[in-house]
Amino acid sequence: MRVGVLTGGGDCPGLNAVIRAVVRKGIEKHGWDVVGFRNGWAGPVTGDSRPLGLNDVEDILARGGTILGSSRTNPYKDDSVDKIRATLSEQGVDALVAIGGEDTLGVAKRLVDDGINVVGVPKTIDNDLDATDYTFGFDTAVHIATEAIDRLRTTAESHHRALVVEVMGRHAGWIALHSGLAGGANVILVPERPFSVDKVVEWVLRRFEAEYAPIIVVAEGAVPEGGKEVLHSGERDAFGHVRLGGVGQWLAEEIADRTGKESRAVVLGHTQRGGTPTAYDRVLATRFGLHAVDAVAEGDWGTMVALRGTDIVRVKLSEATAKLKTVPLDRYQEAEVFFG
Ligand code: F6P
Repeated sequence: MRVGVLTGGGDCPGLNAVIRAVVRKGIEKHGWDVVGFRNGWAGPVTGDSRPLGLNDVEDILARGGTILGSSRTNPYKDDSVDKIRATLSEQGVDALVAIGGEDTLGVAKRLVDDGINVVGVPKTIDNDLDATDYTFGFDTAVHIATEAIDRLRTTAESHHRALVVEVMGRHAGWIALHSGLAGGANVILVPERPFSVDKVVEWVLRRFEAEYAPIIVVAEGAVPEGGKEVLHSGERDAFGHVRLGGVGQWLAEEIADRTGKESRAVVLGHTQRGGTPTAYDRVLATRFGLHAVDAVAEGDWGTMVALRGTDIVRVKLSEATAKLKTVPLDRYQEAEVFFG
């Protein structure tokens, strides 16, 4: 059997750990040939692939990014599904393991409907994929953001400033919620709940009165009540997503204007996606890779491996991509106790 692997969408720490597990178990247990398609769905569309042997996956467990490259190519946008079919037939590839988030796995689901053998592996720092408790990459991103908050707190206190920390999270505020809780933020703002600037200002002032410097963690997709998302640019990717960014700077200026206190904004941006994965993410990614091999071996097409509690299970790709997993109200309300 010849199995292709690809990584699509925004990269995240742990992708290489999945690739390594698929190659190791695929070759050592099943005697498969494994090929890596480069740059997400662009690889199968253009036929850009490389063989993946045991030597190719030595020393990649701890490496961030993806040795295969990634892209946000959408084969359904430019009718290139037949090109994928042609590549798989020319290269003798029987099945694909697609490692990605909502967009990459949404394509995987459609390809399965169109008769192509695909098994999915969930990844995203945003942790917003439904049907899995966690995606790998999230734990690493939360660690990076928490460390940044810890560092920003000491300088904020020295200068008696408010510090607004903008984290990633387009539609879901998981990184903001977890890093904000772990870092003891005084305000956490998530895309799921439009925020009142008046209320933020009240919390900030209360914090200054207590002689502390307020830390406000805001997800890039958070919106002020009655307002709109702050866009970095009007540009859209192949899946129609706009680039977000800038709400942190906007909020820091509002806080400075309304309180008369100095405020600064820091955008953590892609630092959250780079570098080595945490031990938790390495283990989760490795387990996902091992279980994806089992699904391929059993011909369980259209499934995605998922974490439920401490078990790895299989769910339908259709279930996993039907809706995003956003922060529920009760989880947000837990954090509100610490606001102000
Ligand atoms: O989907 C993961 C993510 O990191 C989002 O949190 C963020 O909005 C987006 O990707 C950024 O994408 P890009 O790397 O294309 O700027």
